[in-house]
Amino acid sequence: MFARLASQSTRRALQKAPVQARFASTKAQAGSNKAQIAAVGTGIIGATALAYTMVDNNVSANMADEGLHPPAYPWYQNSPVHTFDHAAIRRGYQVYREVCSACHSLDRIAWRNLINVSHSEDEVKTMAEEVEYEDGPDENGDMFQRPGKPSDYMPKPYANEEAARAGNAGALPPDLSLIIKARHGGSDYVFSLLTGYVDAPAGVEVREGLNYNPYFPGGAIAMARVLFDGLVEYEDGTPATASQMARDVTTFLAWASEPEHDDRKKMGMKAAIVLSGLTLLSVYIKRFKWAPIKSRKIIYNPPQ
Ligand code: HEC
Repeated sequence: MFARLASQSTRRALQKAPVQARFASTKAQAGSNKAQIAAVGTGIIGATALAYTMVDNNVSANMADEGLHPPAYPWYQNSPVHTFDHAAIRRGYQVYREVCSACHSLDRIAWRNLINVSHSEDEVKTMAEEVEYEDGPDENGDMFQRPGKPSDYMPKPYANEEAARAGNAGALPPDLSLIIKARHGGSDYVFSLLTGYVDAPAGVEVREGLNYNPYFPGGAIAMARVLFDGLVEYEDGTPATASQMARDVTTFLAWASEPEHDDRKKMGMKAAIVLSGLTLLSVYIKRFKWAPIKSRKIIYNPPQ
């Protein structure tokens, strides 16, 4: 439709051109401009439609390869005006420490990061001191062991990747610091993965040493189900069901991959309040202070 109109107006412009040769620089030019605009417009609409079907509506022909799409859960921090649920971060840290840290590192989080987020400074110091870190060299050039400090990073379960693979039948447990950001579906995916272990459906073969989990792309994951009801004992008395622990550890990992989240939202809120105040002020000034000055008429009547 656009294209036909465009080509008609081009033709008309071309037909008129010889007659109006003298005005060629004005009228004929205007006609072909319109054609160009229409053609470019059609192109943009077409390209957008194509990109939409190719990128946005990317539906896999084989859901097993993509993994089952996780449902969207109402995470507390998803609301534009909520911070993280910090009690959940604290419980989630406990789950990470008692369960996940046997296999997964958390390289980007130092003990000090927990201060005033989930634990008090004294609690963090005590927790750090329970871990031995290698430091040095001392004056004799020897490395020595010392208790941890808040500036130390979370201890790793394995010395290196090879040791991690050897301990997990060849599979590498990924570092969890950024896992929420690193996986499609984020928190929803990790929660679904942790709670989604089921028996393989009839006809699906799972290799020895792997476990069936429909949310994991491919369906067979090297990590076995780790969360079972009552696995940890929460100090705040929350019943430690498998889904409660999955929710808490996922909240903890969401915080770990986005520790600036709460400050960012607070800053955004302040900016929105200040900027809307300034907008109202500038509307007021434009309307009531500037408008009379701008629209007044100054008449000079020279002396007769
Ligand atoms: C016994 C060791 C072990 C424990 C304990 C463990 N994991 Fe894993 N985890 C693994 C291994 C091995 C993999 C790699 C799986 C693969 O690539 O097939 C993995 C993978 C993952 C992944 C990545 C999945 C993906 O999409 O690539 C997440 C997320 C994860 N684990 C979370 C956790 C959480 C949270 C806990 C604690 C509640 C936990 N794991 C406890 C061994 C473990």
